[in-house]
Amino acid sequence: MAQREVKLCLLGDSGVGKSSIVVRFVTDTFRQSLESTIGASFMTKRLNVDGTTYVFQIWDTAGQEKYRSLAPMYYRGSAAAIIVYDVTRETSFQSVKMWIQELKKNGSPNIVLAIAGNKNDLDDLREIDQKDAKEYADQIGAIFVETSALTALNVPELFMSIAKKLP
Ligand code: GTP
Ligand code: MG
Repeated sequence: MAQREVKLCLLGDSGVGKSSIVVRFVTDTFRQSLESTIGASFMTKRLNVDGTTYVFQIWDTAGQEKYRSLAPMYYRGSAAAIIVYDVTRETSFQSVKMWIQELKKNGSPNIVLAIAGNKNDLDDLREIDQKDAKEYADQIGAIFVETSALTALNVPELFMSIAKKLP
């Protein structure tokens, strides 16, 4: 089977669930109390899509402000970026817009962008309407999904959509 390596990074505010999404994708597990990422962490995962084996090389960046300046090291040279927000936290969606601007300016020109609204399981605490977020993603040509690292909703699907959209 054909094999393709895909360098990918996750960006977004601290606590939105970037590491939880990666852990769900790679090991299909969830932890209620995960340590906040320091610097960045790296994992790989193979996924078969339409007869091709995609080997995702995943850089899970740290969302805390003090690590902000490290981000370019991870998104430069990335074929895809997943920008994650927490559907229960409005400020985390504002940060998505900031990241998109930065990636459009400094990321590789054909980078595949995906926006993930995580913690879809906390619907009663929701602050961001799914429809508004989807509209924004459509405007900028990004993939959009709501995910839950807790229930596994749309987690493999997110990576599958990225694989299909790679140039
Ligand atoms: P930094 O590493 O600090 O940037 O944070 P992060 O974006 O990696 O967040 P992390 O994955 O560490 O998750 C933060 C908290 O949210 C943890 O307590 C997780 O268990 C919880 N969490 C993550 N995803 C979900 C989800 O889909 N649903 C719910 N209910 N909780 C989640
Ligand atoms: Mg983390």
